[in-house]
Amino acid sequence: MKNRLMVALDVADRKQAQNISQSLADDVGWFKIGMRLFVAEGPDLLRQVLQTHRVFLDLKFHDIPNTVAEAVASAGQLGVQMTNIHAVGGPDMMRAAASAASDFPHMKLIAVTVLTSDPMPPEQAKTEAVRRAGQAKEAGLDGVVCSVHEVAAIKQACGDDFLTVTPGIRWGSQSVDDQQRIADPATAIATGADYLVVGRPILRADDPRIAARQAVAMMSDAFSPSTAGC
Ligand code: C5P
Repeated sequence: MKNRLMVALDVADRKQAQNISQSLADDVGWFKIGMRLFVAEGPDLLRQVLQTHRVFLDLKFHDIPNTVAEAVASAGQLGVQMTNIHAVGGPDMMRAAASAASDFPHMKLIAVTVLTSDPMPPEQAKTEAVRRAGQAKEAGLDGVVCSVHEVAAIKQACGDDFLTVTPGIRWGSQSVDDQQRIADPATAIATGADYLVVGRPILRADDPRIAARQAVAMMSDAFSPSTAGC
């Protein structure tokens, strides 16, 4: 299960990123590097993280097709195992990005459907996420970012092999923060999510290592006899 947990390195600088990635080194398979850390530290730090872990470069590209395609190629050259674009960029942009990504078979390209922070009513978010996921699949992408609430409908529409990466993960009495459509780790796995993205619930925990282990334990619980079939 630790290989399906992506911890968001949403921290300010290299030192904080190294502290957290070293303390979680044995407990998670992936780190997600997003705009905050990448803008602050650039590709050198990313290459360092890549020496020990898989990396999802989460910069959510959204621009004209040529610019996005070239950015996706740059991500492929960095060696990251996953990167993403915004589905709202439209079919032409997604096709150009998928074509660029095809030169880098080690890298999955996924599209953000509807942000988990979007206050859109849940049924509307689901309809919109499924529509954008269909466009992403049609364009040749490997999967999407979506909330846990949209995973089943997207898998039904796009097939089980179409990846779903789910942020908005919370458990216990954790603050929801700016997220709108949340779910706990066991529900995410039971629903069919392929990867879970967790940031603040781990980064802000008194002991991030214990929080990461809790998340992995809950993910494993989704398959325990007591929850099987739920
Ligand atoms: O701290 P938290 O667990 O809410 O962090 C979620 C992470 O996932 C953040 O890095 C955020 O940028 C990212 N993300 C998201 N919703 C999306 C796509 C990415 O929350 N739809």
